[in-house]
Amino acid sequence: MADFEPRILGFLCNWCSYAGADLAGVSRMQYPTNLRVVRVMCSGRVDPVVVADTLLKGLDGVIVTGCHINDCHYISGNFHTQKRMQLLIELIDQTPMRGRVRLEWVSASEGTRFAAVMKDFTDTIRALGPTPLGTDQAARTALLAVRDTFSSPHLRNVMGKYFHLTERGTVYGWKLEPARMEKALREVLRAEHARALIIHNAGTAPVTVPRLAELTRIPAAEIVRHLSVMMKQSKVSLAGHDGADPLFQVAPGAGVG
Ligand code: FES
Repeated sequence: MADFEPRILGFLCNWCSYAGADLAGVSRMQYPTNLRVVRVMCSGRVDPVVVADTLLKGLDGVIVTGCHINDCHYISGNFHTQKRMQLLIELIDQTPMRGRVRLEWVSASEGTRFAAVMKDFTDTIRALGPTPLGTDQAARTALLAVRDTFSSPHLRNVMGKYFHLTERGTVYGWKLEPARMEKALREVLRAEHARALIIHNAGTAPVTVPRLAELTRIPAAEIVRHLSVMMKQSKVSLAGHDGADPLFQVAPGAGVG
């Protein structure tokens, strides 16, 4: 691992972080050359699915940077980034990919901070070592489940309406309490993640509830609840019995949401 050079992809918002990187460059500040940059108009354009896909393609780490809170050039873009990335990082950190995604705010005048953040993240990834995805099938399965959780239309709908419903309210003018909205969002996230874990851990052969509980580390009673919803959506069907345990088969191409 001594000669391991991390491959890191950075999504930099055009107006602050990219300008901060530019300032670090023209000021001749030193920072590791492991970063490859994707320039986006706003950090709010960075989809969690793209971040997970980047890791699935074999990158060792991903960093998303944007303007500081209240400085977004599109007013609220980075509020959405903060919420989405917080949820994404929470799920990623439950997998063997822990620590490989980071969110940072860097302004156009913070060339020094940009260099320091990149050095720190590169050091973190260097200490973690190369991505385990090439050798660890469980890590890949867990990451696929995270990616598909954020592809769920149901979750994306709730995430997309989060600030609208808590700050502007519904068409009838009533606003949702942030705590209530957060609870609803967490419930959807948990359910969609559980269903994605079931889909990716079940594989192509019929499987029992105890086996699914063992593979996903989700309590059996919860698995049964999700399976019953997934059967109504034709994503899962009964496929016989293994002794007293019913066998469930995930439909080919079944997705979450
Ligand atoms: Fe920089 Fe939105 S424009 S985060």
